[in-house]
Amino acid sequence: MSLEINRQNTQTIHRHLTLGLFGFGCVGQGLYHVLDETPGIKAEIRKICVKNRNKPRTLDEALFTFDKEEILNDPSIDVVVELIDDADAAFDIVKSALQKGKAVVTANKKMLAEHLEEIYHLQQQYGKPVLYEGSVCGSIPIIRNLEEYYDNDLLTGIEGIFNGSTNYILTRVFEEKKNYSEALQQAQDLGFAESDPSLDVKGFDPKFKLVIAIAHTFGVFVKPEEVINIGIDRISELDLKFAYDNHYSIKLVARAFKIQNQVFGFVAPQFIESTHPLYAVRNEYNAVQLESAFAEKQLFVGKGAGSYPTGSAVLSDISALTYDYRYEYKKLHQLTNLKFSNQLLVEVFVSFEKGVDISINDFDQFDSGYASHGKQYMVGKVSLDKLLKWSSMDGVGIILAPGATFKPKKDVVNESAGLLETF
Ligand SMILES: NC(=O)c1ccc[n+]([C@@H]2O[C@H](COP(=O)([O-])OP(=O)(O)OC[C@H]3O[C@@H](n4cnc5c(N)ncnc54)[C@H](OP(=O)(O)O)[C@@H]3O)[C@@H](O)[C@H]2O)c1
Repeated sequence: MSLEINRQNTQTIHRHLTLGLFGFGCVGQGLYHVLDETPGIKAEIRKICVKNRNKPRTLDEALFTFDKEEILNDPSIDVVVELIDDADAAFDIVKSALQKGKAVVTANKKMLAEHLEEIYHLQQQYGKPVLYEGSVCGSIPIIRNLEEYYDNDLLTGIEGIFNGSTNYILTRVFEEKKNYSEALQQAQDLGFAESDPSLDVKGFDPKFKLVIAIAHTFGVFVKPEEVINIGIDRISELDLKFAYDNHYSIKLVARAFKIQNQVFGFVAPQFIESTHPLYAVRNEYNAVQLESAFAEKQLFVGKGAGSYPTGSAVLSDISALTYDYRYEYKKLHQLTNLKFSNQLLVEVFVSFEKGVDISINDFDQFDSGYASHGKQYMVGKVSLDKLLKWSSMDGVGIILAPGATFKPKKDVVNESAGLLETF
């Protein structure tokens, strides 16, 4: 008898959930499939809201609606699963869902990055959770690991390949010598690219993910516009030749790290040596490396985009809601007093056409230079603000040095902060 009572007390109660789904595109259909194929999940889709009335659907028409209120005002729906490609409309949906007492699952990194602090407060105000594992690196379970496993302030850095589409493009360019636009088209055809590909190739998409990751790694809310993103769209033939000649690859790397009471974070392409763990991360795969004081470096690798991998991350959030899981934003409550900063010196290769207004004097430390066929290359340490300015100038390519080191600017953090080496 007492054994039976104990067993009941220790068993987690899994609620049965009724879902209202917004969006039935790449990820929405992926979720439908993985939900259908996963018998243990106690959840069913009651209604699907989409936008285009003329699009043929693969499911019974009665399941679809074009009126968001049909889901938001349905008291039998406990969870809104938001998987649309319009960040502004998505935020309205998420806000209304919370106000109406529904939990939310979303994979919309742009919407989350732009409104994360507000979404945090809305969760407190309405007492309902928003889960978003699928928004950062697709199938890699990084947010819940940051929340639960790395539940302390000993994390010093997070970095990796946060965008499947650009990694796919760079892999095809390097391995098959495909041209850039052909590789982009292939990534789009396979469903790895965002509906607007400039979000991927200009580095916005990994920046949005980095903004979300920074909140769960360091407990700091930062606005996307404060974080510098340099994309892969400026990589030139000369850069590729330099990489081939030196047996490097080029990867789009997102990173954030803590030095004393400051958090630095940015996205930029980087030459990667063949011995580096990111070198072997190919195609649409993503990788996240965490660094902490005692565990040192740990690397997570998995599919960062695509219908089923992202659908499976969304399903995992739905499953977590069946036992009332919510993010506690633990690092935010650790009162570490960290501040986000761009006052950093970065080691880069800069390439530009003759006549572009860049000189040795722009470098805090100039290491070497090279000129050929009207094109110039300069290597050295430059402040992030300068990179931001150059990244908006026509014909300027910026790639971080292999094994680049980063150093806070002297006027912000004292010299004892020292050099921070990448992994
Ligand atoms: N694709 C990936 O690998 C991936 C990975 C991680 C995260 N995500 C994120 O997941 C979300 C969905 O991406 P996706 O690739 O599945 O997009 P998608 O294939 O372009 O599908 C978008 C869906 O949203 C619907 N939609 C758009 N605006 C709407 C509105 N106002 N109300 C109702 N429905 C609306 C569309 O309706 P119609 O069917 O009528 O056109 C379509 O079904 C995005 O936030 C994306 O960033 C995608």
